[in-house]
Parts: sequence; structure tokens; C-alpha cells
Amino acid sequence: MAYRVAVVGATGAVGEAMIAELERSTLPIAELVPMASARSAGKTVAFRGAEVPVVEATPEAFSGVDLALFSAGGQTSRALAPEAVRRGAVVVDNSSAFRLEDRVPLVVPEVNAEALADHRGLIANPNCSTIQMVVALAPLRERYGLRRIVVSTYQAVSGAGRRAVDALRFESGRWLEGEGFVPEVLPVASLPVKYPIADNVIPQIDRFEPNGFTFEEMKMVRETQKIFGDPALEVAATCVRVPVTVGHSEAVTVELEEAPASMEDVVEALRAAPGVVVWDDPTAQRYPTPMLVRGERDVYVGRIRRDLFRPNVVHLWVVADNLVKGAAWNAVQIAETLEEKGLLRVPAAEGDR
Ligand SMILES: NC(=O)c1ccc[n+]([C@@H]2O[C@H](COP(=O)([O-])OP(=O)(O)OC[C@H]3O[C@@H](n4cnc5c(N)ncnc54)[C@H](OP(=O)(O)O)[C@@H]3O)[C@@H](O)[C@H]2O)c1
Repeated sequence: MAYRVAVVGATGAVGEAMIAELERSTLPIAELVPMASARSAGKTVAFRGAEVPVVEATPEAFSGVDLALFSAGGQTSRALAPEAVRRGAVVVDNSSAFRLEDRVPLVVPEVNAEALADHRGLIANPNCSTIQMVVALAPLRERYGLRRIVVSTYQAVSGAGRRAVDALRFESGRWLEGEGFVPEVLPVASLPVKYPIADNVIPQIDRFEPNGFTFEEMKMVRETQKIFGDPALEVAATCVRVPVTVGHSEAVTVELEEAPASMEDVVEALRAAPGVVVWDDPTAQRYPTPMLVRGERDVYVGRIRRDLFRPNVVHLWVVADNLVKGAAWNAVQIAETLEEKGLLRVPAAEGDR
């Protein structure tokens, strides 16, 4: 069977990456249906050598769609994802709208593909920072057990959409020319206070929660606990926006249940893990950076060290392309995994078709 595949948010930063991932996917695709808001009507996107017209995302537009990849924000997902499922489309949703719902699997295929088994038509793609961290930590969790994670992120502006990428380019140009500018987009487009991202770092991603952590930081806590199936796992995150266009980096300190026998043992566990590439050689100054891993599907790990004071604590530097593994590839990989398992269909009780 070949599938009709919709990409909702096809004109956005993630949507464009999703279409590129679908182009190199093993999934049999009969037709691509790019969707966006009414503003994009008349635009086209390139897919396998053809210019495909963008259609407005409406409930009716999902008739006859088998698979819908959503990346058009939480509001659009809340309004349209259930409509798509009702019409028989399996939805992989990139927004945070459904991630913590009990009935919705939150999946990183290398880590918890088994959670797909009893899906009800809607599957959530985790937050980009969470995805790369759990891919790197899954093998350590399996071998030694995880007790506590402390993570600081260095997140690219593309994680905040096209407008934020444009803002970094514009502000940087003005700044380098010695010209003034008024910051308009970051840290959060919908909040009144803005900070420059050119020549700056911003320790706020998303709005603040009453506990003083940001929503992005709490996503890393709650989503990591759900993916690992461990609601007691301790996670402390500080999420920071940096003036990089693509690629999130993370300094991760992990307290393990059991102290590794050696750091070679840790490296071996990481090297054997699916989706992980180890680049770690201090003598050659080898470690991953966002620019080096751009466009890659894997998660790169370097700077692997044992803590100086606690033998069961390990420090890692984890880098991935936030638009690829952090969003588009993880979503397409979920679809490929569903197809391999014979699960790329909406269970009869959920859809009308
Ligand atoms: N970037 C990342 O690293 C990342 C990672 C994981 C998840 N996400 C999530 O993915 C989503 C999109 O992010 P992005 O970075 O691609 O944003 P973006 O570049 O701003 O693109 C937004 C897309 O959503 C579409 N859209 C907006 N309102 C719509 C509506 N009412 N109906 C249909 N389509 C609508 C836009 O279409 P128009 O062009 O017509 O306005 C555009 O295609 C967000 O929910 C974000 O949280 C992003």
C-alpha cells in the first residue's frame, strides 16, 4: 500500500524539514498533501521533482489522508488533529498539545517504540531538547540505571520558527555594522518583553511556570519521565537560547544508580546504542558542534567524563539537529516504525472510515 501523506505547517521551518525527510523516507508515498493556513493558499512546495500546491488545513481536507504530520502549533493541532483521526488519518503531532495525555504515546523510536503498540490514531513527537537527551541517556539508563539528570541547553533559534531565524540574521547584520535595532521576536513572540539574540544568550525559552522554571524546562522534566516510564526520575533543566541558527547542544550531568566500571564501558554502551554517534577525543580536540552535525539524523555525544568527586556521576555533551532528529526525522521515523509494525492505521473504534 502507498499512503496519502499530509504535512500540516508545510511552509514552516519544521514542515520544510519534514518534506525533506519524507523525500528520503522508505515509506511508500502515493501523494503528498501540503497544508498550511489560508495565508499560504497559492504557494507550492517542491516534492520529488514536482511543485505541489499548498492547501488550507480544514477538517474536510483530511478526507482520504492516511498519515498527517502536524507542525503548525498547539492551537492548530488541538483544532484539527482529532478531526484528522476521525477521518481515518494517523496523526504524528509535533506540538506540545497532547504529549502528556495518558492515551497518547510519546515516542522516540530508539527509546520506546513499544509505546506505539496500542495507539489510538494520535502519536506525539516529544520536544526537540528532550528527544536528543533521551536518545543519549537511554543506553546509560539500561546499563547502570538513572537517578538524576541535570541539563543546561544551548538551543538554536530555528526551534522558535522562521521568524526567530530571520530575527537572528537581521539583528546580527545590524549589530556587526554598528547599527541599532529593536528586538521583536525572542524570547517568546507572544510575550511583551523582548531581548536581542545577536551577540547575546537568553535564559528563557517559552513562558514561566509558577515554580520559576520555564515551560520548556518543565517539558524536559515531564516528557523525559513519560518516555522512560519513570515518574520519580529527577530532572533539573536550564534552557537557554543562543545565537545559532540550527542545532541544539546540551551539557548533561547524569547521576547513575550504579557507578560504571570504567569510562571505556560508558563509551562502549553509547557506541552500541541506535541513533547515537560518539565523537570524543580530547587529544584530537574532537567533539560535536551544531555546525558539524547539521542535517544529520543521529544524536552526537562527546566530552564524556567521570565526575571528579562522585564515581556514579558522568558528564556528557550532546548535540543534534533540532529540525531533523528534534522534529522532522523523529516524526517520519515514528511513521516508518508504525509501517514496519503494521500499525499505520487508525483503530476501528477511533475513526469513521
Ligand atoms: N522548530 C523546532 O525545533 C520544533 C521542534 C519540535 C516541535 N516544534 C513545533 O512545531 C510547530 C511549528 O514550528 P515551526 O518552527 O515550523 O514554526 P514556523 O516556522 O513558524 O511555521 C509555522 C507553520 O504553521 C502554519 N500555521 C500557522 N497557523 C496555522 C493555522 N491556523 N492553520 C494551519 N497552519 C498554520 C504556518 O503556515 P503559514 O505559512 O500559512 O502561516 C507554517 O507552515 C510548533 O508547534 C513548534 O512548537 C518545533
